[in-house]
Amino acid sequence: MRAVVLVGGFGTRLRPLTLGTPKQMLPVVDRPMIEWVVGRLAEHGVDEAVLALGYRPDAFIEAYPDDECAGVRLAYAVEDVPLDTAGAIRFAAREAEVDERFLVLNGDVLTDLDIGALLDAHDASGGAGTIHLHPVDDPSRYGVVPIDGDGRVLEFVEKPPRDSAPSNWINAGTYVLEPEVLDLIDHEGPVSIERVTFPALAAEGKLFGFQSETYWLDAGTPATYLQAQLDLVDGHRAETPPAIAADASVADGAKVEHAVLMSGSSVADGASVIDSVLLPGARVESGATVRDAIVGPHAVVGPDAVVEAGTVLGDGAVVAAGEVLTDARRPEAD
Ligand code: GTP
Repeated sequence: MRAVVLVGGFGTRLRPLTLGTPKQMLPVVDRPMIEWVVGRLAEHGVDEAVLALGYRPDAFIEAYPDDECAGVRLAYAVEDVPLDTAGAIRFAAREAEVDERFLVLNGDVLTDLDIGALLDAHDASGGAGTIHLHPVDDPSRYGVVPIDGDGRVLEFVEKPPRDSAPSNWINAGTYVLEPEVLDLIDHEGPVSIERVTFPALAAEGKLFGFQSETYWLDAGTPATYLQAQLDLVDGHRAETPPAIAADASVADGAKVEHAVLMSGSSVADGASVIDSVLLPGARVESGATVRDAIVGPHAVVGPDAVVEAGTVLGDGAVVAAGEVLTDARRPEAD
């Protein structure tokens, strides 16, 4: 079985971290996000992941020179222009000559979904497509998907106002599709699966939903990218990697609490790092405070500086001694 993995977006919400690195190549604790996404596919019979690429495709190709990622063979489909979600799925599936049911994974979704159970539900329904559904408190930012007692999708409503959402089960970004769905997708220009293809399939009664409450997170914003890492080290996932890399350094007089310190990062004497992530090579100097923040690769937080409240520092960013950054991005990105 093949899986198409959508990894071609610009990742604008994660800027400045994504200015030079595509979102799915950003590290999540001890490995790139893509490896968490592809990681459990092999055990469910997926032998090839087709990466639907657009923004900075070379970053993926260079990272996996043997065309293998987390035990799965990689194939690449690189778009000349962004085709949006459905267009990208169609293009990648055609490039890879997919001719049987296949999986689609949204590349910024981190989940412990039982993919085998999703496939079984799809096979039992006989539908053209089956969507993993996850419950959320506020569905207004998502595609909302009410189903009937047989799992058939009644309608597919993208980002409804909060009080008019017909359900709190949302499109969680993992799908099983039959190849016939590809024929529905216009090959001229971009097409959104959420806005065009799924509503059309639902109207024909060919779309099914599979509800699961297992761990799920869309890691596409700074807050959720940070949460994804803390959830892992807090033991909320099937696997719990170590929070502090073996070659990170923490001075005796430093305080590190509920934080991820990646390879080569350092926290100096009298500094504190709380509810935060230091990417590889990030440096927090003496007396500085980092709280609820993401410190990008090789960024430096100067002595006695404060970096807090959702601040994101990009690659090599520097915070001067004594400076205070609250809910800031450095460098600022448009
Ligand atoms: P933002 O710019 O922050 O909205 O992020 P994004 O566009 O990278 O991601 P979004 O969450 O909007 O898209 C969902 C998934 O589809 C992500 O994994 C993206 O990488 C991917 N994606 C979005 N648009 C395209 C596209 O045109 N082509 C391809 N190949 N992938 C896409």
